[in-house]
Amino acid sequence: MKIALGADHAGVEAKDRLASRLAEAGHEVEDCGTHGGESVDYPDYALAVARRVAAGTAERGILVCGTGIGMCIAANKVPGVRAAKCNDPAEAELCRQHNDANVLCLGARVLDPTVLDELARTFLETPFEGGRHERRVAKMMDAETSRSG
Ligand code: RB5
Repeated sequence: MKIALGADHAGVEAKDRLASRLAEAGHEVEDCGTHGGESVDYPDYALAVARRVAAGTAERGILVCGTGIGMCIAANKVPGVRAAKCNDPAEAELCRQHNDANVLCLGARVLDPTVLDELARTFLETPFEGGRHERRVAKMMDAETSRSG
């Protein structure tokens, strides 16, 4: 699977680790930065990854910041993106099964690195269930194009 990765300074170490793990697992990883510990603004990386997912140049995105919250708020501003901040494997599974989430947001300051690996693996391996969830996801997507939101 083609995956776009992004992080700010708080998430860069975790993002680099995830990039290696995902490449080892056979995924095609596009690393959208950041590439060092210098303080940067998380929206720049969230938007870079989210735009790739929305355009279809990446199938999924994974974003890491201190909490995962800022990345999630920013990524969800891009039409077509359904970003989910997940803290445990059940959330990573359910955001795929029920919400067809296409971007995973993680908090490197609130979770252990091994948990981040597990969440990413679950997010990438879990299919969307469809069925009744199709209608609910469609309603969210319709809100992006309707004038009243
Ligand atoms: C950076 O200090 C921090 O605010 C950022 O990584 C993130 O947690 C924002 O939501």
